[in-house]
Amino acid sequence: MDAKDIDYYALGFEFIETKTMFVSNYKDGRWDEGTLVPFGNFEISPAACILNYGQGIFEGMKALKTKKGDHVLFRPEENAKRFNDSASRMLIPNYNVDKFVSAVKKVVKANEDYIPPYDSGGALYIRPIMIGTGPTVGVKPANEYKMIMFTVPVGPYFPEGFTGIDLEITKKYTRAAPGGTGSSKTCCNYAGSMLPGKEAKERGFAQVIFLDAVHKEYIDEVGAANFFAVIDGVLVTPKTAGTILPGITRKSILELASKKIGMLTEERDISYKELFEVSCTEAFCSGTAAVITPIKSVVLEEKKRIFSEGEPGEITRKAYEMLTGIQRLDIGDEFGWVEKI
Ligand SMILES: Cc1ncc(COP(=O)(O)O)c(C=O)c1O
Repeated sequence: MDAKDIDYYALGFEFIETKTMFVSNYKDGRWDEGTLVPFGNFEISPAACILNYGQGIFEGMKALKTKKGDHVLFRPEENAKRFNDSASRMLIPNYNVDKFVSAVKKVVKANEDYIPPYDSGGALYIRPIMIGTGPTVGVKPANEYKMIMFTVPVGPYFPEGFTGIDLEITKKYTRAAPGGTGSSKTCCNYAGSMLPGKEAKERGFAQVIFLDAVHKEYIDEVGAANFFAVIDGVLVTPKTAGTILPGITRKSILELASKKIGMLTEERDISYKELFEVSCTEAFCSGTAAVITPIKSVVLEEKKRIFSEGEPGEITRKAYEMLTGIQRLDIGDEFGWVEKI
């Protein structure tokens, strides 16, 4: 789609084709330098490992326009490192961190006409993927890979935006088991989460809250976002013990809360039962796509809890203002998290 035909003020989180993508190939034991090419389809063997055994990973990050008109990225090295952590878990060859960040900058620059205006609140979402393209019949890693980065202009992930979402705690489905692939951004984790998400949406919820697979008691995460709650005045979030994605937004919020909001923070097991106690005063979820989305209510079977009378809580609002302020350079980036392109 032509950049000038897009209504940047009405964007949701749907695919829109942009002009250019970055492609790098791995063959004979090494990655090539990669290059920008027009966005388009490519051929793949029906025996490709990604098609048969799901040997693939991805990342998600955003390029934003600041008030001054600069184009910026948020902690891109963190995405590069997590990309390699996911790659290692899937026996995919790692990609040089500096080359990853340089490729992100190249693909954003090539598609800069698609970066939504500052006042739209939108972003240019960057989607790096890495897939096993070599043919395999037995279950073993491919010998050839592709790394592709494409971009999509996006608005809010949850249409409810900052007004808050209603979530259903599921005991029927789990997302990841200890020792599995929950902490990797691998395609298969997401395919398995689509049915629980669909069923919850049919019942009027924005998403599900997944519990741990062993006890079905402790909160893992929310669809494709991390979970936070304020309990007894402490900002708590599930610890990263291998079953949840170690979110970059999550990590940033923990640092902001302790260093800028002056709160105690804790990474620990959080029983879903705690959400129904009066000591739990706020809840929100976080992610590149979700940013900080307040949780208005949670439901488990017949039980429902509405947080702060259905309004975003005070800590949620502070964390949101601080995080988005830094991300768009409306306030000083004292942590050095923002990189200009
Ligand atoms: C399962 C899952 N949890 C959490 C997150 C949040 O991670 P980040 O803050 O790095 O975007 C994501 C990605 O957006 C995710 O897919």
